[in-house]
Amino acid sequence: MSANNLAAVNCTAIEKPNNKTDAAAPAGVPVIDYEGSGYRLDFWEGQGREYEDAVERIALQRLLPPQGRRIAEIGAGFGRLADLYLGYDQIVLFDYSRTMLADAVRKWGHDPRFVFVAGNLYQMPLAEGSLDTLVMVRVMHHLANVPAALAQLQSLLHQSSTAVLEYANKRNLKAVLRWLTRRQPWSPFDPAPLEFVAMNFDFHPGWMAAKLNDAGLRVDERFGASHFRLPALKNNLPAHRLARLDSHLFRIGGKFPLAPSIFVRATAPDTAERPQSEASPTQLFRCPACATYPLAAIGPTQLQCPSCTRQYGQTNCIWDFKLPE
Ligand SMILES: C[S@@+](CC[C@H](N)C(=O)[O-])C[C@H]1O[C@@H](n2cnc3c(N)ncnc32)[C@H](O)[C@@H]1O
Repeated sequence: MSANNLAAVNCTAIEKPNNKTDAAAPAGVPVIDYEGSGYRLDFWEGQGREYEDAVERIALQRLLPPQGRRIAEIGAGFGRLADLYLGYDQIVLFDYSRTMLADAVRKWGHDPRFVFVAGNLYQMPLAEGSLDTLVMVRVMHHLANVPAALAQLQSLLHQSSTAVLEYANKRNLKAVLRWLTRRQPWSPFDPAPLEFVAMNFDFHPGWMAAKLNDAGLRVDERFGASHFRLPALKNNLPAHRLARLDSHLFRIGGKFPLAPSIFVRATAPDTAERPQSEASPTQLFRCPACATYPLAAIGPTQLQCPSCTRQYGQTNCIWDFKLPE
């Protein structure tokens, strides 16, 4: 199968199932479950977050290589940011939630460059060294085991890859002021991750820098973003103007991170050279259960692991590598 028809088979949208609560991932790390969630409509569309969306877009445009062979967004949700990746030959949208991906399929399923993959980032089904560029935005703040996640992400990179990762900053200005005025019991200077609501974490920039380094990820740029998340500003200035103003603070905000959102750009110098691989399913995927590579094609949309014999398939445009709970 060629790169293009990886995404072209069976592109009918999936029905939305009922909402579910958190699930335990087979890897033993809890995973937040967005299956059936109304994230697009309840959080983004018409919800007054045009400024946040615009800021994130400017940050990504500055940090991402504009083109390349293959980019993957990890935790891509409904594909909100996918138009930023159109300079790439192949665009992988990876998420744990099949219904979020189904939403992305509705928007992007007609474009043969897109590959939709359901799976758990703690058990990555993408092959080692398979990505030129990796993006992860608004996902780290749901990760209960950042070192395990970063180890998986690092394995997807090769020597000339770029990874752009966003995380929520525990040591943001609002938290510092609240702590100094005793309106908040926890210290923003304590390096440990803060789980402020179940499965929602804020991270200290120093702690995150150490974990990125431990995972073999070398940060070459850090931006602070979304400095102006204040209703008084958001209600009185056009979102794009506020976002442009914010972008002037990206660099200084990266040096002195007080913004609620931090973007880092990293490379993985200890990885192998860029592989010469094609984009066929047998070359793009590994077994998420036992990491065996390559998988064997047993049909146009069916793969089998030669070691553990598990089978994985593509339905309604989505390659499904979620393991049973
Ligand atoms: C807040 S949404 C962000 C979506 C998108 N990145 C955006 O900014 O619009 C978080 C996404 O991360 C996904 N996610 C969380 N944990 C995951 C995991 N362990 N593996 C894969 N995806 C995960 C969720 O399913 C959800 O779609």
